[in-house]
Amino acid sequence: MLPCASCLPGSLLLWALLLLLLGSASPQDSEEPDSYTECTDGYEWDPDSQHCRDVNECLTIPEACKGEMKCINHYGGYLCLPRSAAVINDLHGEGPPPPVPPAQHPNPCPPGYEPDDQESCVDVDECAQALHDCRPSQDCHNLPGSYQCTCPDGYRKIGPECVDIDECRYRYCQHRCVNLPGSFRCQCEPGFQLGPNNRSCVDVNECDMGAPCEQRCFNSYGTFLCRCHQGYELHRDGFSCSDIDECSYSSYLCQYRCVNEPGRFSCHCPQGYQLLATRLCQDIDECESGAHQCSEAQTCVNFHGGYRCVDTNRCVEPYIQVSDNRCLCPASNPLCREQPSSIVHRYMTITSERSVPADVFQIQATSVYPGAYNAFQIRAGNSQGDFYIRQINNVSAMLVLARPVTGPREYVLDLEMVTMNSLMSYRASSVLRLTVFVGAYTF
Ligand SMILES: *[C@@H]1O[C@H](CO)[C@@H](O)[C@H](O)[C@H]1NC(C)=O
Ligand SMILES: *[C@@H]1O[C@H](CO)[C@@H](O)[C@H](O)[C@H]1NC(C)=O
Repeated sequence: MLPCASCLPGSLLLWALLLLLLGSASPQDSEEPDSYTECTDGYEWDPDSQHCRDVNECLTIPEACKGEMKCINHYGGYLCLPRSAAVINDLHGEGPPPPVPPAQHPNPCPPGYEPDDQESCVDVDECAQALHDCRPSQDCHNLPGSYQCTCPDGYRKIGPECVDIDECRYRYCQHRCVNLPGSFRCQCEPGFQLGPNNRSCVDVNECDMGAPCEQRCFNSYGTFLCRCHQGYELHRDGFSCSDIDECSYSSYLCQYRCVNEPGRFSCHCPQGYQLLATRLCQDIDECESGAHQCSEAQTCVNFHGGYRCVDTNRCVEPYIQVSDNRCLCPASNPLCREQPSSIVHRYMTITSERSVPADVFQIQATSVYPGAYNAFQIRAGNSQGDFYIRQINNVSAMLVLARPVTGPREYVLDLEMVTMNSLMSYRASSVLRLTVFVGAYTF
């Protein structure tokens, strides 16, 4: 059933004399089982047809014919014939050879080559013309006169097939490795990026890459930190900063009023005060600073939170002025008989809500007479008993604030000093007219 080279018709043997390189062409071994898949030389087993199939040696053997010879495939072998020799295609057929179509002119070139228009031999691109038997997983590479089946980069030949190499098994990547068909890719943990070699991972400076920190950004290995300017605190989201309301933290930050501002706070003072050392309020002495509107005939009196212009001459009939703040009732005037002999004007200022009792003003006799005795009392202006007098000795006494008072408020107290000399039955009275300004605040 298998054709064999040794059964060539006699007429064809004539050609074969030139050069016949046949395989051993041994006949079929009848003792082989039916299912054998071994074929004699020059044939290969075709599993599809379950037959041995002729091998085209002209294609598979590089330079099967040397020199000027051309290769003619033949069942179980091949022939090398001179280029000029006529070829009958059907080497097996009987009778006259069929007419040869022009396209099937015998190929006068070595295997893997074909003649071009100028009758010179050019390489056949087996890969381009699908004349190869590379597997779909293989790459076909055309070679001069033949071709080669190779595995693509990243693939390895296992048996007949090309199989992807799992490069990740070789620890090419510093952090993470992703195997891909034919290749691999390194990946880095968040906060890192691939280095120039595409394998190592280098820290990303997120601060330079638009990290979403609202105020300050600090890069660190693999991550970054947001921070806020002074006076701000980091929001729970870790990025944004919100103003700290310093005023809400403590009521002692400012003596009077705390005003929160973006990133800071400031203390404010009421009118008539100035800020002292960022949190304290200090009364402005308008009289000393010259920021007052008092006229020539007036005296400027400063008090907590303001000032007052008082007439320099405050003496009322029958008193006459003897000095800037002293009025005298002349003994010669009968109207003065029951009046204190002198009235001295004095001014003072206190703050609101002082703890009591509080010594506020000391009265001192200016002249001391031997054997005389001085008594002090509040003669007027203390109807509510907010003050009392504490005698210190017989020449001085202390005016004491008895109750906490809240300003703004003004007292005019007549503090009387009565001087007595029992031996000489002498009695004299003088008044210190003390104006007490109570400021509106505790400072
Ligand atoms: C790294 O990968 C990039 C992008 O795939 C490529 O352009 C570059 O040549 C690679 N560098 C190296 C050293 O492999
Ligand atoms: C009052 O004080 C003066 C001066 O110290 C003294 O001379 C006088 O004796 C004192 N009088 C009495 C009653 O203590």
